[in-house]
Amino acid sequence: MERYINRGYEFIDAIRLAYGDLEGDYAFVIGHADDDKLYAFKKGSGMVVGLGEGFTCVSSDLPSILPLTRNVVRPQDGEIVTLWADRVELRSVKDGRLIKREPELITESMDAVQKGGYPHFMLKEIHEQPQVGRELLHLLAGSSEAPSRGETRGIQTLIDNMQRARHLYFIACGTSYHAALAGSVYFAQLAGRPAIPVLAPQFIAQYAPAVGHEDVGIFVSQSGETKDVLNALEAAEARGMDCYGLANVVGSTLTKATSFCLPLCCGYEISVPATKTFTNQVITFLYLAYRMAGLDTRVLDAIPDLMEKTIEAVAPQVEQIAGEINEWNDMYCLGYGATYPIALEGALKLKEITYAHCEGTLSTEFKHGPLSAVSKGFPIVFVAGPQDTPLIISGINEVKVRGARAIAIGEEDARLRANADDLIVIPKSDPQVNSLLAVLPLQLLSYHMSVMRGYDPDFPRNLSKTLTVD
Ligand code: F6R
Repeated sequence: MERYINRGYEFIDAIRLAYGDLEGDYAFVIGHADDDKLYAFKKGSGMVVGLGEGFTCVSSDLPSILPLTRNVVRPQDGEIVTLWADRVELRSVKDGRLIKREPELITESMDAVQKGGYPHFMLKEIHEQPQVGRELLHLLAGSSEAPSRGETRGIQTLIDNMQRARHLYFIACGTSYHAALAGSVYFAQLAGRPAIPVLAPQFIAQYAPAVGHEDVGIFVSQSGETKDVLNALEAAEARGMDCYGLANVVGSTLTKATSFCLPLCCGYEISVPATKTFTNQVITFLYLAYRMAGLDTRVLDAIPDLMEKTIEAVAPQVEQIAGEINEWNDMYCLGYGATYPIALEGALKLKEITYAHCEGTLSTEFKHGPLSAVSKGFPIVFVAGPQDTPLIISGINEVKVRGARAIAIGEEDARLRANADDLIVIPKSDPQVNSLLAVLPLQLLSYHMSVMRGYDPDFPRNLSKTLTVD
């Protein structure tokens, strides 16, 4: 642009010419120091423009704009938006012609973008989990009762195609990857169907050359805009793979780019650390595994009440433990089988908002190296699945003799109580449901530690809710 401006072009024409020079996907906001306007344009990435009273704004996703205004315009590829404080204008990159587009009014409830009496969005969203879980299960139930209706027919087709598929891939990043990993455990344990969980960029490097139209992929993303995931989708589609989505933000790129995208029904998730979207991703995978196995999915209806009970039961104890271990900047979170993805997710939440180093790993791997890090008081969380208690206890003893503080999360069990320093009790349930419940105390632990450290858990440093870059 600088080159074109130096040659005497107007700012907007310099953008149009630069647009033609650029390769790849991007979203830019650009302005001139002594100008009263900004310009925004994009290719391949998400972009939403907000029109408020006396201001305009631009962002990569809708939820970040909604606390400010409900009037939005969605620019398309090949368009340049000019933003003044009181209006915006769209022009075509191709010929500079003005494009007329009325702003959209987002009418969904305001609740999602207000804290509703909670000090942080994260705490509110943790407490919303039972309710959004209930709504999701209700929607999914429609698919087994009336499989001929639009959206629900899509689920039946997905299940039929997964039954027939050569290989199944669950593809995602970050927290959504942990849900995909949990899904692969449930598919194998319940339906005897192996599925390959893989981080999206690694899918491109490792599996994309090997997939074809006989394979099915589910692309999992809260935002539906994560560039790494969209890149993987593009690579899979180029190979003819049968691609499906699982996304929260309706209207996002992922929902539009897949033939069928399962909705997460969480409403907007404002807090950067994903909580309610994770549990609804896990519930969806659990539901799909039940359907693949021909099991009665009505059993899952108990989950929301169990989540409510868990949050209520663990909250005071978790807050107390948070205070006691808060001086540590090194922690581990261990799990096994269905609780392994949960341990990874707990560790991610802890490092994301406490800025401490917390590693999640398979409990049996701890003796293969990390054990050497243990010193007196070193906090190690064990997520104990009901069927794995003896194995977990042997792990607990291994670290306790070296002085660690072993914090177990599991069902009431005399052996766990006798061996761990702390037992955070979650209600009795099936092993897979148990793993889902175990994430709740970990979310609360990370929340309290973050607040106790004086950080804002909703907006951790260096991170953004939607990652539209490679
Ligand atoms: C962690 C977190 C991130 C996201 C990751 C993928 O709390 O939120 O790890 O899970 O950036 O984002 P989505 O799910 O939007 O594709």
